Amino acid sequence: MRISSKKTNKKRIEELMALLDMHNLPRHVAIIMDGNGRWARKRKLPRVAGHRVGIKSVHQIVQLISERLRPIEVLTLYAFSTENWHRPAEEISALMRLLIEYLRIEMAIMERNKIRFRTIGRIEQLPRVVQEEIAKTVQRTRNNPGMLLNIALNYSSQVEIVDAVRKIVRDVQSGELVPERIDEKLFESYLY
Ligand code: FPP
Repeated sequence: MRISSKKTNKKRIEELMALLDMHNLPRHVAIIMDGNGRWARKRKLPRVAGHRVGIKSVHQIVQLISERLRPIEVLTLYAFSTENWHRPAEEISALMRLLIEYLRIEMAIMERNKIRFRTIGRIEQLPRVVQEEIAKTVQRTRNNPGMLLNIALNYSSQVEIVDAVRKIVRDVQSGELVPERIDEKLFESYLY
């Protein structure tokens, strides 16, 4: 996989940058990776071609935020939902391969721009090789002081709530937590 950016794209980025109020940027930006399939269909290409191009956009966004939009401290990318398991097996395998490739290639920019990498979602249900690549990237970037790149994988907000409730129940059963202590703030601390 080659990650490159066309000149026209660079011009567009500069035009969009000029529209931003640099003193009024959010601290956390979340992006739903969407439209890859439609992009490919429009060009009569396989869906995977759309996913590859989507990754190039991700690369550009990560580079742009970590280098030029410093007030943004967290970038969350919603890359794979729990619903996405219903896609054809070949597409799922291709997505997992692309994720591994992306993490390996993006390591250079994560090291250069001191980006910290994390994930949210049921990572333990992803293929072992993907889990290992994620663990390696988390470990290698864990002390980086720059932007947090957070990727939602096998994620859904309902599943996040279910997982939090399960952890709370376990802690109550083990005696570590008394039910009276459960309030909004404590519940939040059990989320991913
Ligand atoms: C949405 O396109 C995209 C996805 C479901 C998968 C995106 C994930 C990757 C490309 C894997 C690598 C991940 C990262 C973070 C680099 P779609 O097929 O739903 O498109 P549509 O909305 O046009 O149908």
